[in-house]
Amino acid sequence: MNAHTPKTHASGATHTADATTVEEGLAIQEEQAKFDSDTATAVAMQNTLLTPRFYTTDFDELDAVDVTPVREDWDLLIAQMQADPNKGHFRKTDDWDHVDWDGMEPGLRKEFIDFLISSCTAEFSGCVLYKEMKRRGSNKDITQLFQLMARDEARHAGFINDALREAGVAVNLGFLTQKKKYTYFRPKFIYYATYLSEKIGYARYITIFRHLEAHPEHRFHPIFKWFREWCNDEFSHGEAFALLMKTDPKLTSGVNAYWIKFFLTAVYATMYVRDHQRPAFHAALGVDPDWYAHEVFTKTSKLSQQIFPLTLDIDHPRWQRELVALQKANADLALAVQRKQTLKKWGAQARAARAFVSLLLIPSKANKVPASTRMEPVY
Ligand SMILES: [Fe+2]
Ligand SMILES: [Fe+2]
Repeated sequence: MNAHTPKTHASGATHTADATTVEEGLAIQEEQAKFDSDTATAVAMQNTLLTPRFYTTDFDELDAVDVTPVREDWDLLIAQMQADPNKGHFRKTDDWDHVDWDGMEPGLRKEFIDFLISSCTAEFSGCVLYKEMKRRGSNKDITQLFQLMARDEARHAGFINDALREAGVAVNLGFLTQKKKYTYFRPKFIYYATYLSEKIGYARYITIFRHLEAHPEHRFHPIFKWFREWCNDEFSHGEAFALLMKTDPKLTSGVNAYWIKFFLTAVYATMYVRDHQRPAFHAALGVDPDWYAHEVFTKTSKLSQQIFPLTLDIDHPRWQRELVALQKANADLALAVQRKQTLKKWGAQARAARAFVSLLLIPSKANKVPASTRMEPVY
């Protein structure tokens, strides 16, 4: 039992799941922060190519976006988000089975905690960016959207932190906001990266959810039961970014098509490498990480046809081969860094760069974008 009773906030909510605004959600987490651990926060503070980052952008440019060209779809989406079907969902209920953290196999425990910390950081990264846009903007459409998305991400991050706390670790989100390094991206790169991370997030959560629906014996932690509603939030966030891109056709044509290809390749490759660092986690879920990657890429590619003028050829013979090469180079790189072997480190870096360029040079498939972007989650 937690001896500590959180303060009641503006609307009376004591849990992030019930918070109706991002400010309220963050205030509740601030209260809990006293109990959060230094180790988990240190992990979340890491900035490498593979760990979730915090972003900042040109908020004035984003604030100037006029959503008139997509008004009809925009209003529908906002109304759907305002109806807030997931209010109160992201909290422990009777469905939350007891987790035997001490009895968990140590390798799995380590990888699973790492997975939770990295997911929590990624959720919170979205929260911080969206909240900042809402705070700085004066365009009603834009601030309204970003307020709603920040609200959702605060709940998601808060819920993962609840799960971490049971294991005796939790991320101090207030500390992260203050101290973590922020990477600057122009708004168009924020669109590509964030759109993709929302849609790939949806694809990842729903693929695990459906797999565990069919194989409940592999559900080694209750949090997976919450993934369906969770991924619907991410789906809506992705829809919002698709509409933002739709307001300006230049964002998805001409030279920007190359940027889109770059972001698709980078996001897919990062996911592949990162997931292969967690073999025990995937074995416990009964999921082959290669199957999982292909499944998630297929879904994300299908979804991204709503707005991107191209999709990656993930069935090209070089695709899987180079992903494996990239992942091996990365594993060797980590080992060389750990052992302070400079030459081996350079060698591994060169191999990783070569594999990535080779992935990038696989011809993509052209895609004719439909007139209306709006989609519903169907997986
Ligand atoms: Fe989220
Ligand atoms: Fe999201």
